[in-house]
Amino acid sequence: ENPPPLAGKRALVTAGPTHEPIDPVRYIANRSSGKQGFAIAGALAALGADVTLVAGPVSLATPPGVRRVNVETAREMAAAVEAALPADVAVMVAAVADWRAEATAQKIKKDKGGIDALPLVENPDILAGLSKSPRRPRLVIGFAAETEKVVEHATAKRARKGCDWIVANDVSGDVMGGADNRIHLVTHGGVEDWPKMEKGAVARRLAQRIADELSH
Ligand code: C5P
Repeated sequence: ENPPPLAGKRALVTAGPTHEPIDPVRYIANRSSGKQGFAIAGALAALGADVTLVAGPVSLATPPGVRRVNVETAREMAAAVEAALPADVAVMVAAVADWRAEATAQKIKKDKGGIDALPLVENPDILAGLSKSPRRPRLVIGFAAETEKVVEHATAKRARKGCDWIVANDVSGDVMGGADNRIHLVTHGGVEDWPKMEKGAVARRLAQRIADELSH
């Protein structure tokens, strides 16, 4: 019997949004269901990988065989990613909030003037940081959600982030929170256009591509 294709390999997946508190009852977030990232973590585990899933706040079941670390903020996610190293492959699917506020301890009251200005500071870019880390996984994969010029923007993002592959999502339709995904895989070798598929099928095909890449 052959061992599963990712036996002995360590995988790291980020998924879901991050929540950046403004005050005890409010937060800044990007839109993300976490479905695609959770499906990828499950597909990698199904191929035998040792998978750590760093999950933002979502109410999804942990896929079988996956080690899950729950986080709220981008900075917590960055720390959890660092703690999960070393890894052979990282798939950064999370929709990380680009900015955070200097959160206040008390709820901001509307009748006391509310928010005149909310100073924002930029969050760390976890994908870009991992790509230039001395502990960089051999294969680093980023995601890009685009509504137009999908491949052009994804190709630029691949260079800017320093990752190996970009999985570009065309989110101009009903992908957000939906069951299906239409992706373009941007690698050093060019662009692969995959047909519209259920998110589980995208995850299995990507996991198989990862296994092929790590096998040589
Ligand atoms: O720059 P943009 O947010 O469009 O890039 C998306 C890719 O970068 C995704 O893979 C996402 O998980 C990752 N990312 C990150 N940390 C951030 C912002 C994005 O890891 N602060």
